Amino acid sequence: MERHINTIGILTSGGDAPGMNAAIRAVTRSARYNNINVVGVMRGYQGLIDKEFVKFTSSSVSNTIQRGGTILKTARSKAFMTEEGRKQAYANMVEAGIDALIVIGGNGSLTGAQLFAREYDIPIIGLPGTIDNDLYGTDSTIGYDSALNTIVECVDKIRDTANSHDRIFFIEVMGRDAGFLAQNSAIASGAEAAIIPESETDVDQLADFIERGKRKSKNSAIVLVSEAQKDGVGGAFYYAERVKKEYPQFDARVTILGHLQRGGTPSAYDRILASRMGYAAIEALLEGQRNVMVGIKNDEIVYVPISRAVKMNKPINQELITVLNVLSI
Ligand code: F6P
Repeated sequence: MERHINTIGILTSGGDAPGMNAAIRAVTRSARYNNINVVGVMRGYQGLIDKEFVKFTSSSVSNTIQRGGTILKTARSKAFMTEEGRKQAYANMVEAGIDALIVIGGNGSLTGAQLFAREYDIPIIGLPGTIDNDLYGTDSTIGYDSALNTIVECVDKIRDTANSHDRIFFIEVMGRDAGFLAQNSAIASGAEAAIIPESETDVDQLADFIERGKRKSKNSAIVLVSEAQKDGVGGAFYYAERVKKEYPQFDARVTILGHLQRGGTPSAYDRILASRMGYAAIEALLEGQRNVMVGIKNDEIVYVPISRAVKMNKPINQELITVLNVLSI
C-alpha cells in the first residue's frame, strides 16, 4: 500500500560537494509546491540522532543556489553506524513526524541510507552528491563538474611554472577509490598523463608515461595522480620518489590539491543537475518509489536502486584513456 507522505526530512552527509545547496533548494521547493512539509536535518545522520531539526520553508533556501558547501552542514557520523544510533535516529524521526528521507551524499552515505531503509521500512530517496563521481548508474554526480573545473584552473597555473623550469609535476587529486577526476582533468588541462586506480594492475603507469614522454622529447610534464592507493601504493609522492630514484635525469615536484577541490561556487552544469535531481526526488516519492538513487543517463533522469548504485563499480570509459594518450603526443 502506498504511504501518504506528509513530511520529509532532508540531509547532506559525507564529504560536501558544490551543488548540494542547489539540490537542497530544489527538494525543498518541489516538496512545498506539492504541500509536503520539509524538515532540514543538520549535520547529516548525526543530526537525526541529536534531533537537530529545522523547519524549512521556500524562503529557507533563498539565495543559496550559487553557494558552495552545504547549508545543512555535513558529517561522517560514527554513531549512525551502530544499531543503537540508527534506533535513536528512527525514534526521533517518528517523534518529529518525518515520513520519508532525502539523503544527499556519496557512496558511504547512500550505503547508510540503504541499511536504515531496510531496518525501519522508511522510504528513502538518494541524490548522488560527491565530487568523486563514483556512483554507479549515473553519468555524473552533483559536484563533480565543479571540482573538475577547479582542478583545471589550478593545473593551468602549475603548467606555467612547470614549463619555465622544465619539471615534471605530479598533481594529486581527490577520488578516494576512483580516477574520474584525475582522468578527465588530465584531458581538460592537456596533461601528459593520468595515473588512476582503474587502469590494468599489470601496467606500470609511471614507466609507461616516461617511455611515451621520451619518444616525444618533452621537457616538462603534468601528471594527474588519483589519491587512490592500491595495497598502500600510489599517490603523487610515491611517483615523485620513484622518479628521483629510477629517472634521476628528471626534476620532479608534487602538488596536492586537497580540499580546495571541494569548495567554491558550483558550475552551471552542477546547479542544473542538482535542480533536476532534487525535483525528480520528490516526483519519485509521490510516485511511491523508495530506496532509489536519482541518476542521469544520456541527459535523462533515471532511478537506480540504491543497492546497485553503491555496490557496482562504475567503470571508466576506455575511450577517455585512449583520448588522453593520443592527444598528449
Ligand atoms: O568523497 C569525497 C572526498 O572528497 C574524497 O575524494 C576524499 O578521499 C574524501 O572525501 C576526504 O574526506 P575528508 O574531507 O573527510 O577528509
